[in-house]
Amino acid sequence: MIRKAKIQDIKKIQELINSFASKDLMLPRSLNELYENIRDFWVCEKNRKIAGCCALHVSWDNLAEIKSLAVTKSRHKQGVGRELVEVCLKEAKEIGAKRVFVLTYVQGFFRKFGFKRVKNTDLPHKIWAECINCCKFPNCQEVAMVKQL
Ligand SMILES: CC(C)(COP(=O)(O)OP(=O)(O)OC[C@H]1O[C@@H](n2cnc3c(N)ncnc32)[C@H](O)[C@@H]1OP(=O)(O)O)[C@@H](O)C(=O)NCCC(=O)NCCS
Repeated sequence: MIRKAKIQDIKKIQELINSFASKDLMLPRSLNELYENIRDFWVCEKNRKIAGCCALHVSWDNLAEIKSLAVTKSRHKQGVGRELVEVCLKEAKEIGAKRVFVLTYVQGFFRKFGFKRVKNTDLPHKIWAECINCCKFPNCQEVAMVKQL
């Protein structure tokens, strides 16, 4: 079941994200960030457990970002990531976004949804402000990809 996240899900969402962040597969998120942005988040629930999460964050005029996509390891390759990305893309369209971007290490996964690699400079300066506070700055290997809706 795909649904919007609830406040009570946040600790599980953080555990899931940070389990991959500790292996350098994605960026960690603090509880504060997660609570403040809870309305961005979708979750996939299976047997009353959080099997995956994904956020859609509005960045700028016509532009939204897919963030914090994570699927619990035992549920990989079962379509959970696909469902989460698809619900975020649908929501992006509904709220009037014209482009969705992602900063990612898994280009092959996002290519399946029509995302194309772009130069970092093709995205507005605003989105890089967040990077300055990241532990990976300035040596981050994430790649920027964009999908036109
Ligand atoms: C990347 C991730 C979200 C994929 O989730 P998933 O539920 O296993 O993906 P799905 O089963 O929905 O796969 C959808 C399609 O993508 C493919 N795919 C899955 N993982 C992939 C990867 N790492 N690279 C390329 N393709 C991938 C699947 O084979 C499937 O292809 P198909 O539709 O042609 O059969 C998951 O592996 C994950 O949580 N990884 C760790 C965290 C991470 O890297 N997050 C992304 C941060 S931007």
